[in-house]
Amino acid sequence: MADTLANGEHAAFRMLDLTAANPVAREDPYPRLAELRAQCPLHRDEAAGAWLVGRMADARAIFTDNSHAKNPDRAEPAAIAIRRRRSTVPDGLAFPDDQRASMLELDGEEHARVRNPLVQALYARIARFEPECLRIVDAALDRLDGRAEFDLMHELAEPVPVACIGSILGVPRETLATFRGWLNGIVQTFNPNRTPEDVAALVAASNGLAHYIRGRFDDAKNNPPDDLFGDMARAQMAGVRLSDTEITYNIRGLLIAGNVTTTDLIGNAVSVLLTHPAQLQKLRADPSLWPNAVEEVLRYEAPVDFTWRIATHAEELSGCPVPSGAALNVFIRAANRDEAAFPVADAFDVSRPRASRHLSFGGGAHICPGAPLARMEAKHLVSRLFTRFPNLRLAEPDAPPAWCRLPGFRGLETLPVRVD
Ligand code: HEM
Repeated sequence: MADTLANGEHAAFRMLDLTAANPVAREDPYPRLAELRAQCPLHRDEAAGAWLVGRMADARAIFTDNSHAKNPDRAEPAAIAIRRRRSTVPDGLAFPDDQRASMLELDGEEHARVRNPLVQALYARIARFEPECLRIVDAALDRLDGRAEFDLMHELAEPVPVACIGSILGVPRETLATFRGWLNGIVQTFNPNRTPEDVAALVAASNGLAHYIRGRFDDAKNNPPDDLFGDMARAQMAGVRLSDTEITYNIRGLLIAGNVTTTDLIGNAVSVLLTHPAQLQKLRADPSLWPNAVEEVLRYEAPVDFTWRIATHAEELSGCPVPSGAALNVFIRAANRDEAAFPVADAFDVSRPRASRHLSFGGGAHICPGAPLARMEAKHLVSRLFTRFPNLRLAEPDAPPAWCRLPGFRGLETLPVRVD
């Protein structure tokens, strides 16, 4: 493990310093991630008790080896950052123990038992969703008719993902605003510096959503509707071994995992294309490049900072010994810019071959099940936006991008654009 720089200084990479919690990384995380890759591909952050992983080859090896765990309880006692996931559950939650049912933190057969039925039902819904996705996208664009300037995040990137997942869950249109409020409140889960007001908002939003989901699932069991709640009620009646808590908590998980991330993907796509006009020109000349362009945005400006696995036996990565219990934090954005995997990795190129080999959706048994939905939404919304508004441009081209401060994510708080 090389943790000394050429000039003799200690590299001292700290997990949080590589995220939006650090103003320098918030503005541009890539130089420091390149140093991590080059100098300390496997770096021990003593304070967090985590091993930071920066190279694509190691990241892939970690994801594809199913002996790696996700349950934070299996991490060594020193793995404070990952163990904090258990201890930061705020007081006042209506169902504080439900987290134990989360597929994000289950391993092996238990993970497959909980994940597979839910994800099969989700995939089947997504496979039929394209016409409804287009309707939601067009309705959102229609609402902008007559506007010369608007905040893309507020008008499109936030509401479209909520409307899409809301439709899959059969949330009535009149409830979508409340639903969106809950999802926005729950984002505070990821904020390590919560004020008492943030905690109160988090608890209120979390309880509001939990009661809503439980109520909807109770109703679905009496009379299964044509939505994901109905699918899961029917699966349970057909003998699938899933408790009510496992179903409802993981439906909640789908919402939380898919909301900010898809919003960020859409905002990042528009922002990157507006600041790379030659690439936008390529797309205008050849619209068949749109799916690849979405992959390249995911690679180039990944919405999620890192995901984790836990070593369940001693092993070696990049020639460095790793003990059993090590919390391995894979820095997705570092791997996505690894020259060993992507030539000229710092260039944004919508026609890049094999752009989809990025790790923005993680990998292995826990790979993001919402990826096809996020891809569909981003492709339709962003391509139709540029067609509908051929003069789309930044409203404040000289202003620095308003990157959000939430560690763990890379997305914009606002993106003011003009279309006249
Ligand atoms: C651009 C949008 C998205 C990005 C970048 C993203 C990224 C990720 C990442 C990095 C993981 C961790 C995977 C791993 O550890 O290997 C993950 C897991 C997950 N995502 Fe997504 N996600 C997105 C959208 C969605 C959507 C739309 C949904 C639901 C509809 C969703 C649901 C989930 C769930 C449930 C998990 C946990 C899976 C498991 O642990 O088995 N995500 N996502």
